[in-house]
Amino acid sequence: MMTLDASAATIMERCDILACYSEESGRLTRRFATRAMRLADEAIAGWMRAAGMSVQYDAIGNLIGRYEGESAAAQALLLGSHLDSVRDAGRYDGILGVTTALACVERLHERSVRLPYAIEMIAFADEEGLRYHRAYMGSRAITGTFNVDILRLTDVDGISIAEAIRAYGGNPDPQVLRTPRWRREDLLGYCEVHIEQGPVLETHDLPVGVVSAIAGQDRITLSFAGEAGHAGTVPMALRRDALCAAAEFMFVVETLARRQPGLVATVGQVSVQPGVSNVIPGQVALSLDVRHQDDALRKKAREQFYERARKIGSQRNIALDWQLIQETPTVSCAPALVQRFEQAVVEAGYPVLVLPSGAGHDAVVMSELTDIAMLFVRCRGGISHNPAESVQQEDVAVAIAVLERFLASLSEKRGI
Ligand code: GLV
Ligand code: MN
Ligand code: MN
Repeated sequence: MMTLDASAATIMERCDILACYSEESGRLTRRFATRAMRLADEAIAGWMRAAGMSVQYDAIGNLIGRYEGESAAAQALLLGSHLDSVRDAGRYDGILGVTTALACVERLHERSVRLPYAIEMIAFADEEGLRYHRAYMGSRAITGTFNVDILRLTDVDGISIAEAIRAYGGNPDPQVLRTPRWRREDLLGYCEVHIEQGPVLETHDLPVGVVSAIAGQDRITLSFAGEAGHAGTVPMALRRDALCAAAEFMFVVETLARRQPGLVATVGQVSVQPGVSNVIPGQVALSLDVRHQDDALRKKAREQFYERARKIGSQRNIALDWQLIQETPTVSCAPALVQRFEQAVVEAGYPVLVLPSGAGHDAVVMSELTDIAMLFVRCRGGISHNPAESVQQEDVAVAIAVLERFLASLSEKRGI
């Protein structure tokens, strides 16, 4: 049987291989339903088949591998994470969860072990939302909660979501995308291994931690519409500069968020029109991401940001457009599954640290269908959404050991 170290080394190699399947040379960018995604999917599908899984794609292009349990009628435990990435991404965000789940199934297959439940492993097609600015499209489709009104949204090349799904070999039929893959009673839960993407585990010198809850999140797009004009002739007092309004707003966002403990708010995208050095900016579109563990405080902050944006606009005679495009509440991990992960960490020989997640995960949406739990793996410097993302092979070996113990504990005592 493969040692834990050998399995962890395989995971590291696979993360390196998958990092090469990118839309951009020299850096990792893998959006929903692209050729780069197809190459990553096909690599994973091959490893799934070799690990004794049956493999299929669902309507939106999630890749699903099934490892049967002792009996065909058994309930299923879902394991997984996402294969898409942000722009210029690290190689572990999402991918580590997929490859760790795969390693655990491989190790069962190698010993010809069948569990009293089936494992369905999901490599989600879209979590980050890079291509269409809507996160969680993969988990939305698989849980039958997909907002079919967005099928007409287009990417930078004018390709709609429906067209992208079709081109990838999927089925954009709204009814199909609104049908959950499983019934609640057929599932034991959904578990996701993920890099922490923060510094807490490193601070505590721990390889892994158990997640308690995942912070709620708003995604907003807003724009300021002023008036374009000549940079040399329009006096400062007469300008309606949309970029200056946006700059003032960004400063307000930072200032208010710094004042409220636990609140994080980010303007990550700015597009300036016409974007010419000798033209006063007439139109600016911004993204705004707002998160807090406490849903009421998140909503309150959002309202404050909106009020301040409105005020900045009216003081400068600039029109504001504000759209809340996505809102997810804080979700708790299921106490019974959290407890099993805690026990598994103890059995693997490590102290238990339970911590919340500031990042969003596929588990957020899966929680609408079934119980969820997550295991975090330490990453260097807490750095993520950055090519410098780094994990240690020894920590990955601990994650495999913990997930294996978790799987075993579900075998011993059915019903959670
Ligand atoms: C996903 O990575 C998110 O938290 O935005
Ligand atoms: Mn991410
Ligand atoms: Mn992720």
